[in-house]
Amino acid sequence: MGILTEEMQRFVREQKLGFVATICADGTPNLSPKGTTTVWDDDHLIFADICSPGTIANLVQNPAVEVNVVDPITRRGYRFKGQATIVDEGRLFERAMSFFRNDYGLSEALARRVDRVVLIRVARVAPVISPIYDTGVTEDEVVRRYVEYYETIRKQRAGV
Ligand SMILES: Cc1cc2nc3c(=O)[nH]c(=O)nc-3n(C[C@H](O)[C@H](O)[C@H](O)COP(=O)(O)O)c2cc1C
Repeated sequence: MGILTEEMQRFVREQKLGFVATICADGTPNLSPKGTTTVWDDDHLIFADICSPGTIANLVQNPAVEVNVVDPITRRGYRFKGQATIVDEGRLFERAMSFFRNDYGLSEALARRVDRVVLIRVARVAPVISPIYDTGVTEDEVVRRYVEYYETIRKQRAGV
């Protein structure tokens, strides 16, 4: 077993969205969402570069990366810190693209735009949890509140 437990892997596969933080040349942070964030193996996360020039430029200079994956309904998640490798050719790239097309379900239209994938070797993981839980509420109650909240937004948008 690697650093990613079965529960972490299940969670990341389910969420399908990670926020990827890198460091710009001037030392400022860069944070952007990657809907292709998923698990590669027991020690690695992966995402596909579809339109992430800033993240890629930063990782070329400095492979340090943090990825946050948070469930907006349960208000829980994980922070993954590690080192990124950009893979743009060879057997590993072919395997990754086959995975995104056949297992992950990335559409062909998007898959054709991927020239590279980013493999992240996770060195540290920390759970992250909303302070709402400090008030003593149960997860069921938090889920109820946020399902209701997003349902209200959906109805407002639909003009219902
Ligand atoms: C929900 C969501 C999911 C996204 N998923 C991806 C992705 O998987 N890969 C990608 O390259 N860009 C993805 N993007 C687009 C990038 O986040 C966006 O182009 C961003 O501005 C890139 O910033 P960067 O160049 O600093 O990385 C996504 C955007 C959103 C809003």
